[in-house]
Amino acid sequence: MQSKNVNCRTIELINSLRGKEKIKMLFVCLGNICRSPAAEGVMRRYVEEAGLEERIEVDSAGILSYHQGELPDKRMRVHASRRGLSLTHQSRPVKAADFEDFDVIFAMDDQNVSDLREISPTVEGCDKIVRISDFFTLATTLDYIPDPYYTGAEGFELVLDLLENSCYNILDSLRN
Ligand code: 4NP
Repeated sequence: MQSKNVNCRTIELINSLRGKEKIKMLFVCLGNICRSPAAEGVMRRYVEEAGLEERIEVDSAGILSYHQGELPDKRMRVHASRRGLSLTHQSRPVKAADFEDFDVIFAMDDQNVSDLREISPTVEGCDKIVRISDFFTLATTLDYIPDPYYTGAEGFELVLDLLENSCYNILDSLRN
C-alpha cells in the first residue's frame, strides 16, 4: 500500500492480524447511519469478492444511540445502491464488549477516535482503534471521512469514494 498517511501503530496492528484464522473488524462513526454502515457494505463486498467470508467478519456501530434500530440514511442507501451495494445494517451504539470482541476498530474521524478512547474499558481496547484515513491512497487533502449528514449528493459520493479506496487498501494490507 502506498499510503501517504502511514502510521507505525496501524502497520504493527495490521501485521499482527495477518496470520490470524479469523479477523473481526468494526467500523465506527457518530450516528451509524451514514459513514460506518457504508464502510461495512463496501468492505463486505470486497471480502465476498475475495472469497474471505469465513475468515473476515465485518460490523459497524455508532458513538450515539440516537438512531438505534434504524436502517442507514436513505440518501446513503441510494448512493450506495448506484454502486451495487445494498446497505441493510441496523444502527447500534458501540458497547464495551466491542473492544474485546473485535480485533480492529476503524474510526472515521478524530472525534470518533477520542470518543472511542473514552468508551474503551481497557488500554488493550484503545490499542485496537485505527484512523481509517491511514489507508487513503487517492489524491485528497483530507485526513478523515467527512460527515455527509448535512451535505448534498457530493458529500455522499465523496464518502463512498474514500471508503472504496481505504477498504480496498485495508483488505490488501491484511492479505499481503
Ligand atoms: P454518520 O452521520 O456519523 O456518518 O452516521 C451522522 C448521522 C446522524 C447524526 C450525526 C452524524 N446525528 O447527529 O443525528
